[in-house]
Amino acid sequence: MRKRISGYIFCSALLLATGSVNAQNTSTAGTDAKISAIIKKLTLEEKIAMVHASGLFSSAGVKRLGIPQLVSDDGPLGVREEIKPGWASANLLTDSATFFPNGSALAATWNPELAYRYGHDMGEEARARNKQIMLAPAFNIARTPLCGRTYEYYSEDPFLNSRLAVASVKGIQSQHVAACVKHFAVNNQEVERDFISVNVDERTLREIYLPAFKASITEGGAWTIMSAYNKLRGVYCSENDYLLNKILKGEWKFKGLVMSDWGGTHSTVNAANHGLDLEMGSGEKYDAYFFAKPLLDSVKAGKVSVKTIDAKVRRILWVMYQTSLSANQPKGSMATPAHGKTAYDIASESIVLLKNAKHLLPLNTSAIKSIAVIGDNATHTFHLGGFGAGVKAKYEITALAGLKNRLGNKVNIKFAQGYSGVYIPTKDNHMGDDYNHSDSAMVTQAVAVAKSTDMAILFVGANRDYESEGRDRKDLSLPFGEQTLIDAVTAANPNTIVVVVGGAPYDIGAIKKNNHTIVWSWYNGSENGNALADVLIGKINPSGKLPFTFPASLKDSPAHALDAYPGKDHKVDYKEGILVGYRWYDTKNIDPLYCFGYGLSYTDYDYDGLYADRKAYKTTDNITATIKVKNTGKYAGKETVQLYVHKSGSAVERAEKELKAFKKVWIAAGQTATVSLKIPVKDLAYFDATKMKWVVEPGKYKLLAGTSSKDVKQTTTVNIN
Ligand code: BGC
Repeated sequence: MRKRISGYIFCSALLLATGSVNAQNTSTAGTDAKISAIIKKLTLEEKIAMVHASGLFSSAGVKRLGIPQLVSDDGPLGVREEIKPGWASANLLTDSATFFPNGSALAATWNPELAYRYGHDMGEEARARNKQIMLAPAFNIARTPLCGRTYEYYSEDPFLNSRLAVASVKGIQSQHVAACVKHFAVNNQEVERDFISVNVDERTLREIYLPAFKASITEGGAWTIMSAYNKLRGVYCSENDYLLNKILKGEWKFKGLVMSDWGGTHSTVNAANHGLDLEMGSGEKYDAYFFAKPLLDSVKAGKVSVKTIDAKVRRILWVMYQTSLSANQPKGSMATPAHGKTAYDIASESIVLLKNAKHLLPLNTSAIKSIAVIGDNATHTFHLGGFGAGVKAKYEITALAGLKNRLGNKVNIKFAQGYSGVYIPTKDNHMGDDYNHSDSAMVTQAVAVAKSTDMAILFVGANRDYESEGRDRKDLSLPFGEQTLIDAVTAANPNTIVVVVGGAPYDIGAIKKNNHTIVWSWYNGSENGNALADVLIGKINPSGKLPFTFPASLKDSPAHALDAYPGKDHKVDYKEGILVGYRWYDTKNIDPLYCFGYGLSYTDYDYDGLYADRKAYKTTDNITATIKVKNTGKYAGKETVQLYVHKSGSAVERAEKELKAFKKVWIAAGQTATVSLKIPVKDLAYFDATKMKWVVEPGKYKLLAGTSSKDVKQTTTVNIN
């Protein structure tokens, strides 16, 4: 409870001094005037105290004026437990939270309404814990499948990324808790993240890496943003005038505060003058922070102006007026059944059915007497692990517990661990070498169990020790000798279903080739096992779609094909330019293992009659494309209609197709849904780096509607004048 409360008891003094502070209901001008009045009363020393950390997750308030501390906490998996200096758990009994499915799981739902509920519920938990800022959502683009934080992030596609980011931000902030969108920008690898300088061309920066940040600010209204550890074009993001002052605060008119990543500040004068507002970090010598005494000295020496400091304090106070100083703040609530339901709904819509060649799923539970549940991931929990933020989950239902919950009375469930999922990185948190061995005794035991049952469900994949902040994976292979186990169990029991758990792409080529039934699951939150069991028994018809491409081989993946990862001499060139993810595979005609947007259902959908509402449009128009989708099977289900655009005869390089709209709809068995999708014509623009503006080329555009990026069902053409 330490540092997070004290500011609140002083609020009343400030209220008296400034009148009503409900920022949501007062005019911006009114709030601005109050903030100006406060700034006038602050001494320079007090201002400096407000712009750097005073605790692991807090910065100081000003007692005599009733300005509270500003307290943040990590997401994105939920509200992190209280941490002591040195990052050890505070071991409280009051900070158990809901564990929400990881970022790529949320993205696999393709459902912004669920992203809103995720944000809303996490916001309620943050309120209950008196946090003003949630360090979430995180949505750096999945440039390489190896990035250790892929599981925290959403997607390889800027449009899917943007829709989910905006919804998550709005959800969190509906609770008067600031979202902190991160990591701004181009933090696409963990290897050398503290030094690496990203060289990316302007068009690619604007079209691929910035859209979700822009949308989360201009549309989502995010109140805070975190600068990334890495450099952009030779300059640290935390002191990058171009990113922070020109683009974020200039072009996007961001009113909130920019905070550094923890220990991600590298200078005083440059960072102060180039847009950083708040320095955060883990070091406990707070007076030595760049934005502490050195900043005070720099102001006195005339290297940083008082006006610049005032602007930072203004932004910090403005965030307070949206959060701790706003009237009618909801009280919040912790780990309620409603939050559990949100975690369940996300999990159940995120699970991706990759292969169901024998129609073994959904399980015919009346005919099955016994099931072998095999694999460490059947009993592993995922709320904690690895380096970086986790959640002290109030509860987490494992896959085995979920299956027992749903089938326990009817089916004899036998468990064998199959492999050991213990993963220990090197001392400095690099990937260790020795992790891919099977344990023959465990395999033998698993085979015996599989032979004695009607069917086997094999849980393999990774865990949160294996995928982690601070390091990238070395390759795409499954860890822990799992392939040996899979082969042995599959040979022992022909009715083997493989469930792979992970937050990023893996090489599951051998499983695709040799196994008839494959399900993809994630670090799926508090309700993981219940949601998974419900998908397996058919209570939930799977509707997850992959938010990134699974390459057939790592060298097919753009950054790796071009030898543009992880860079040399602390520099990485994004040589693939705009051709990130499926844009690359489609344009270069490379077949992936599983494509972006892929995911099966227990039913089938027919697409028919795609048409656009007009033949020709102006640049200010919206295109409305409508299609009929019929559920031709016997299960009701949710289908995500994906609308891509192809531009031929362009003056510039274009990806073969780009996602421009999607909609998830529920369709009863045998019914037809009429689905309309809107594309603002301005979204067809490319970024012209010479003119430094978005340009919509006139001419023909092909609209492609499909169930995935490769399975295009219907096309039509429109003209832009
Ligand atoms: C991570 C951030 C996180 C911060 C505080 C950093 O290492 O990059 O995402 O919010 O730590 O835990």
